[in-house]
Amino acid sequence: MVAEKGEVVERSLVFAANGERFELSRVDPNTTLLEFLRTQTRLKGAKLGCGEGGCGACVVLLSTYDPVHDRVEEFAVSSCLTLLCSINFCSVTTTEGLGNSNDGFHSIHQRFSGFHASQCGFCTPGMCMSLFSALVHADKSNKPEPPDGFSKLTASEAEKAIAGNLCRCTGYRPILDACKSFAADVDLEDLGLNSFWKKGEKDALVARLPYHSRNAVCTFPEYLKSEVKSLLDALNNSDCTSLAEGCWYCPYSVDGLYKLLNSDMFSACRVKMVVGNTGSGVYKELELYDKYIDLRGIPELSVIRRNNKGIEIGAAITISRAIEVLKEDCEHMFSSQNSVFAKISDHMNKVASQFVRNTASLGGNLIMAQRSQLPSDIATILLAAGSTVYIQMASERLVLTLEEFLERPPCDYKTLLLSIYIPCWSYTSNASSEIKESVDSNATKESHLLFETFRAAPRPLGNAVAYLNSAFLAQISFDKISGDLVIDNLQLAFGAYGSQHAIRARKVENFLVGKPVTASVLLEAIRLLRETIIPKEGTPHPPYRSSLAVSFLFDFLHPLAKDLAEPKKNIHVDVFNTAASAEYATDSLNGAVHVSPDKASTYASNGQFDNCDTLLLSKQMMKFSKDYNPVGEPTKKVGAEIQASGEAVYVDDIPSPKDCLYGAFIYSTRPLAHIKGINFKSSLATKKLITVISFQDIPKGGQNIGSMSMFGTEPLFPSSLTEYAGQPLGLVIAETQRFANMCAKQADVSYSTENLEAPILSVEEAVKKSSFFEVPPVVYPKQVGDFSQGMAEADHKILSAEIKLGSQYYFYMETQTALAVPDEDNCIMVYSSTQCPQTAQEVIAKSLGIPFHNVRVITRRVGGGFGGKALRAIPVATACALAAYKLRRPVRMYLDRKTDIIMAGGRHPMKINYSVGFKSDGRVTALHIDLLINAGISEDVSPIMPQNIIEALKKYNWGALSFDVKVCKTNISTKSAMRSPGEVQGSFIAEAIIEHVASVLSVDANSIRRKNLHNFESLKLFYEGCEGEISEYTLPSIFDKLALSASYHHHVEMIQEFNNCNKWRKRGISCVPIIYKVMLRPTPGKVSVLNDGSIIVEVGGIELGQGLWTKVKQMVAFALGQLWDDGGRCLLERVRIIQADTLSLIQGGWTAGSTTSESSCEAVRLSCNVLVERLKPLKKRLEEQMGFISWEPLISQANLEAVNLSASTYFVPDYASTNYLNFGVAVSEVPATMPVVKELCGLHNVDRVCDADKFDQIYAMQNSM
Ligand SMILES: Cc1cc2nc3c(=O)[nH]c(=O)nc-3n(C[C@H](O)[C@H](O)[C@H](O)COP(=O)(O)OP(=O)(O)OC[C@H]3O[C@@H](n4cnc5c(N)ncnc54)[C@H](O)[C@@H]3O)c2cc1C
Ligand code: FES
Ligand code: FES
Repeated sequence: MVAEKGEVVERSLVFAANGERFELSRVDPNTTLLEFLRTQTRLKGAKLGCGEGGCGACVVLLSTYDPVHDRVEEFAVSSCLTLLCSINFCSVTTTEGLGNSNDGFHSIHQRFSGFHASQCGFCTPGMCMSLFSALVHADKSNKPEPPDGFSKLTASEAEKAIAGNLCRCTGYRPILDACKSFAADVDLEDLGLNSFWKKGEKDALVARLPYHSRNAVCTFPEYLKSEVKSLLDALNNSDCTSLAEGCWYCPYSVDGLYKLLNSDMFSACRVKMVVGNTGSGVYKELELYDKYIDLRGIPELSVIRRNNKGIEIGAAITISRAIEVLKEDCEHMFSSQNSVFAKISDHMNKVASQFVRNTASLGGNLIMAQRSQLPSDIATILLAAGSTVYIQMASERLVLTLEEFLERPPCDYKTLLLSIYIPCWSYTSNASSEIKESVDSNATKESHLLFETFRAAPRPLGNAVAYLNSAFLAQISFDKISGDLVIDNLQLAFGAYGSQHAIRARKVENFLVGKPVTASVLLEAIRLLRETIIPKEGTPHPPYRSSLAVSFLFDFLHPLAKDLAEPKKNIHVDVFNTAASAEYATDSLNGAVHVSPDKASTYASNGQFDNCDTLLLSKQMMKFSKDYNPVGEPTKKVGAEIQASGEAVYVDDIPSPKDCLYGAFIYSTRPLAHIKGINFKSSLATKKLITVISFQDIPKGGQNIGSMSMFGTEPLFPSSLTEYAGQPLGLVIAETQRFANMCAKQADVSYSTENLEAPILSVEEAVKKSSFFEVPPVVYPKQVGDFSQGMAEADHKILSAEIKLGSQYYFYMETQTALAVPDEDNCIMVYSSTQCPQTAQEVIAKSLGIPFHNVRVITRRVGGGFGGKALRAIPVATACALAAYKLRRPVRMYLDRKTDIIMAGGRHPMKINYSVGFKSDGRVTALHIDLLINAGISEDVSPIMPQNIIEALKKYNWGALSFDVKVCKTNISTKSAMRSPGEVQGSFIAEAIIEHVASVLSVDANSIRRKNLHNFESLKLFYEGCEGEISEYTLPSIFDKLALSASYHHHVEMIQEFNNCNKWRKRGISCVPIIYKVMLRPTPGKVSVLNDGSIIVEVGGIELGQGLWTKVKQMVAFALGQLWDDGGRCLLERVRIIQADTLSLIQGGWTAGSTTSESSCEAVRLSCNVLVERLKPLKKRLEEQMGFISWEPLISQANLEAVNLSASTYFVPDYASTNYLNFGVAVSEVPATMPVVKELCGLHNVDRVCDADKFDQIYAMQNSM
């Protein structure tokens, strides 16, 4: 079809996903690519982790085709932000498109699996796609051909490939190893533990890796290319294309855009202009739009115009493309110009992540900075570079400096940003008249340009909004007569610190210009800057942000101040020296800067600061025993490949049953208030509301229970009084999850605080009001000795010192989720991502008022739990069940990240007050602790916290130990078990006290640690009943092995030397012992052998990523393998662990406390023993007849002879093994930076971490390297 010029051509949306063609004539334009893939196709590989572009779980590869140059371009995108309509004529590749269990896995999947780079696996598909995108990109470059089996990717690029992808389980080393295994420059021997080769094997390692075949995946199908080609003429002739029945418009000119905006069609509807739509990751859309206008087709917005004065970049150009363009320009320019563009592009590389930058536009960023106060990096760096912007407002076109643009009132939705102009900077350039005027023609001066950008964020690369960013451009000249460096011109830009927008620090600039940089000038500049950088009220960490601004300016200017350069020791760094620049990043802030102004120009071009190019290197040493083969062998994690390929099914991957509805919580925003009513703001979204489920829907006979533990229950929904902000008040039900989420956000709850006391928000208030949970005596820890007597013996005392510990969010990658399906005869089936299906079953049954056997809870795998999917998962499952039960339709729910964070609770905050007495030699004689634990609104498992904390604290012999622990009930969300609940805090408190004692005595903390380690007698006293045998108490010997080792001392010396030589950067080394008391719980296990010899196993434990299934599988192979002398290796591949089902295997209990793998293994071992006993006589008889009998015929015969091939056991640990102690010691070495250095930007490396056994070997290796 050829359109008439000026016509709006209506089309269907056409695209390909993993080669399959999709053509859609009707689409809700608000649909994201991720939502479409997950709900409208069978592709579940792309996961929803955050929905904000911040985690990478949803990354897919998007490919576009340029028919003119016959070129395909591929890039990673976050499918959670990409609107479906924006991918017209594109091709999408998800991790399923790389390979799968039927057609063969891709080498990426296999290597992720083989390098043990996937635990819960929820992040893995996104990781794979980020890596795949980097491989495709690298392999298309004109770099030299790599050796066979490798890619053109470098190891450093491989690391950066996944910089925006979060993993909460695995740790990045194995993930990076998997990525780096593709790099042409990698030394395979440096890679960590894997299942391809054993450590120390050197030969032909690459041959053992799954082969990487470049170009094996077709990213853009031929049929789509033909369609794109055939459309060229039609597109050239039309003014605008419309998709999705007039909901998505692509104008091809500015006029075309304004024609649309001014037309009647657009007058009474909600319209949004978009480029990449990544803005919706920053400011979540709470409403639906009727129409979208895609700006990418307007040529003015995609210009790239260069001349010798500067470069104009269209507003729709993506950040990734802008980086390339600026880098390309650097190659053609003189060093100083080069430096400014290079620094801008380097800084842009730190904005968001690759997969966001690939679609995020410069214009979108600046508009959000102008309109919505986005803490933009781009606005700040472009401000310092003196940029201007071109904007269109109706018929008016304006050229404004970026500063003018940012200072205007927020622009309306019809204002169009056309392009951004960045001038070329050089001292004599025409680009800046200010600078030109300052040029001194007198030959006594030499002039140079400096440009630097800074950014402080929780993470140096990847997604983290900056605490503060800044960029400085300075014109300096060296006065040969005075020897001073004088600032001729200065542009200081700061942003993201809690200001309306990026600003120029004019006062500071005016003060500094014309002055030589001296210590006193710098001091005054800093004073002025402090007056300027004042974060607005409500901004977190205001003093930190202000001092960062000072640090950055100091960092920028102090090398220019000759009176600040006091060479110290033997470290002399020439800041302007190319060769020294890398060193400078480490040591320049010694005050050892030796200014060499005649090389000032290289200062700008070489870059003073490292670029976060941190290549992570590490060594692993492990010992394996073959005694229980295959138990303990480093085999691939069960299901790792299907996790990588996206085939592993998590709760939200289960296809929605027919008529399925979706729920989202309305939560309270008040800590304590009467609920007067819930209304909904009138909006497009609320038209989608079906109903709201509340406590009134609890059926007759049911109880209002959302969760329970041995200590108490909590309500599912409050009846009339909300008791904490974040409390679920009701469940909104809608046709899709997006609609449900949006409706819930439109809920308008009216509250009243009439006749209510103030809420209790802190432990101090709880103490005042005696608001405590009872701790049953049976779980209250035991005091040791007589505190007063111990204090009387002490030579020194520290009285009433205080520690405060904060909370922590779980951050499992898969948020809380459940699917409830009503079944016949008042039964209900609930798929829940929980660590405690049994408790979920019981709570659901109680709340519905039905027998337990009517509730089947199924949990296959959990996308990360960390304690947060224990009791905190249960209200989600119960609310879904209640809605499904009431509506007689399936109901599912997948919490959005914000709701999850607000409701989840997390780690217990606490306040600790301690008094300790000790001898002059460091031996502690008495310790008293007052501990206030903030448990939130309900008990959950909080009454167990005192015990967990005190047990961990008891790792040292405190002489006498007394304590008063209160579990405070407050009006905040319920705090629950979280990764080592209590143990982390107990250990922290113990170490803080030890360090305090050491600092009072001015001795090394390690000597205090060693002095106060238990002997066996005191161990018995502190850990009564679980101290074990004297020979088992190994802690002192492992501590000595580490702390007295030559390599430890060597490192201590090196660190001392480093610290003496460095003023600003310091290093620390710490050696910490730990005693962990485990508690085994009864656990069931069932092993059944099918007629073909395959084995199915059910266990009480849930696979959370910790590898429980892998260990159980190994144990089954070992235990059944006892039938043969050579063990059970051959049985390993026959074992399948199946999902937990509360009606199939009862008494499943909890998966928590680090012992469920162990007890599940024991349960299946006992079951296998029963089977072995049943099979033994048959095997003996058959062997007598046949000589040898293998597994399959043995099982086949057993079936014929009616041997019961299923056995289940309930493992109940005997008294002696229920509780036992584990001992460990670890050393870590960490650099620390004083608060004037840019490494405060968030780059903290742990240089070495080591446990006892490996310390010597590792140091030996490092030292020999
Ligand atoms: C996870 C994440 C991390 C991020 N981290 C950073 C960071 O560290 N530093 C930083 O600076 N930024 C950061 N950003 C912001 C990011 O740079 C912006 O989201 C992006 O540049 C917006 O571009 P877009 O094309 O996606 O805009 P869109 O989302 O398409 O649009 C954003 C807004 O701008 C309007 N708009 C877009 N283009 C124009 C135009 N030409 N004229 C008029 N209006 C227009 C749209 O109507 C919309 O209101 C981050 C974003 C995400 C999602
Ligand atoms: S980045 Fe898309 S889900 Fe997190
Ligand atoms: S394996 Fe990465 S989040 Fe669990």
